[in-house]
Amino acid sequence: MSSFSSILSFSVLLALTQAHGVILGAQGIKGSPESVGFQVNPELARNCTSISPCQQDTTIIRDQEIIDNVVNECGRTELAGNIDIGENTENALAAGAVTQVQSGTQMIVTIHQVNADGAGPYTCDLVEAGNNGIITQNLTVEDNVPGVNGLSQAKFQDFNIKVNMPDNFTCTGSSAGNVCTVRCRNNAQAGPFGGCFPVQQVDVTPNVNTAANIPSAQSLEKITAQVAQNQKDLPAAIAAVQNAGSDQALQNSAAVSSLLKQTITSSVAPTLTVDVATGVATTAAATSSAAAKTNNGNGRKGNNGNNNANSNANSRQGKGNNVSNNERRRRSLFIA
Ligand SMILES: *[C@@H]1O[C@H](CO)[C@@H](O)[C@H](O)[C@H]1NC(C)=O
Ligand SMILES: *[C@@H]1O[C@H](CO)[C@@H](O)[C@H](O)[C@H]1NC(C)=O
Ligand SMILES: *[C@@H]1O[C@H](CO)[C@@H](O)[C@H](O)[C@H]1NC(C)=O
Ligand SMILES: *[C@@H]1O[C@H](CO)[C@@H](O)[C@H](O)[C@H]1NC(C)=O
Repeated sequence: MSSFSSILSFSVLLALTQAHGVILGAQGIKGSPESVGFQVNPELARNCTSISPCQQDTTIIRDQEIIDNVVNECGRTELAGNIDIGENTENALAAGAVTQVQSGTQMIVTIHQVNADGAGPYTCDLVEAGNNGIITQNLTVEDNVPGVNGLSQAKFQDFNIKVNMPDNFTCTGSSAGNVCTVRCRNNAQAGPFGGCFPVQQVDVTPNVNTAANIPSAQSLEKITAQVAQNQKDLPAAIAAVQNAGSDQALQNSAAVSSLLKQTITSSVAPTLTVDVATGVATTAAATSSAAAKTNNGNGRKGNNGNNNANSNANSRQGKGNNVSNNERRRRSLFIA
C-alpha cells in the first residue's frame, strides 16, 4: 500500500532513541475502501528506525497532553503536531478513503512497528461522535502485536491485528453523520504510540446534528481547570503561531509538503438551509415558555422579598452561566 519514492536525501542528525508504531491501514467490510491512520504519509520510508524520517508520522497519544489541551484524543505526530480529527476525517471522506463497518465487523488493522517500543499490546477504543473527545466504548483486539509494555525486538515490521466493532454502537460524526473515530495505541513509556482512523457505519441512519441533539459532558471542575490551563498557555501559543508564519517556517513547510507529495482531495460542501418551525408556539411549548417566564418573575420577586432565597438563586445562576460560557470557549479551542 505504500508507494516509496526515492526522495529522501536528508543528512540526519540523530541522538535520542524513541520508538513508534504507525497505522498503515484499516480494513472493515470486505470490498469497502481502506482507512489510513490520520497524518500517516505513504511517502515516508518504512525501512529504517531513525527518528527522521521513519518515526516522523507516528502518533504519540499521551493522556496528560490531552488533559493539558495540548492535543485532542488522537494526539500528535512529530512532523505535523496536533491532529485535527474533523479535518482529517473530511479529507479522508473526500478522498473515498474511509473503511466501512457495521455491528460486529472484525477489522484488520495493519500496524507498522518502527522499532522496539512500537510493540504491543495495543488497545483500541471508539469515539462514536467522531471528534467530540468522548471515548464511548473500548474495542476488543485479537492477534495483537507481540510485546510487553510496548517493547519487543521487532523493527520495521508490519503486523495485522484484529479489532472488533461492538454489537451496539452508533456512529454520528463527520459531515456524513455516520462516521466514528477508532483509536489504537500501545503502552510504551516513550509513547503511547498508535493512531486514529475513521470508520463509516453502514447499518445506521446517518445522524443530522441540531444544536439541541448534541450531548455535552463536561463537569464544571474540568471546565474551570481547562480555562485556567488555556489562559496559562495562550501567550506561548500566540508566539508559536507567529513563528509558524515566518519566512523560514513557511519555506520548511513547503519543502516538506513537496517531498511528501502532500495533496488533499477537495470536494465542495453544500450550503444548507435548516427548516425551522415558525409562527406562535403551540400548547406544550407555549406552556413551558410561560412557566419559564413565571419562574423568572418569581425569582426576581424572591430576591426582593427574601435574602436567603436571593443568594441561593444567584449562586445557582452563576454556575449555570459559567458552564455555558466556558463550554463554548472549550469547544472553540479544543475541537478545531
Ligand atoms: C529504504 O526505502 C527507500 C524508499 O523509501 C529506498 O530508497 C531505500 O533504498 C531503502 N533502503 C534500504 C536499505 O533498503
Ligand atoms: C475502557 O477501558 C479503560 C481501561 O480499562 C477504562 O478505564 C475505561 O473506563 C473503559 N471505557 C469504557 C467506555 O468502557
Ligand atoms: C444500544 O445502545 C443504546 C445507547 O447506549 C441503548 O439505548 C440501547 O438499549 C442498546 N441496545 C441494545 C440492544 O443493547
Ligand atoms: C463562576 O461563577 C462563580 C460565581 O459567580 C465565580 O466565583 C467564578 O469565578 C466563576 N468562574 C469562572 C471560571 O468564570
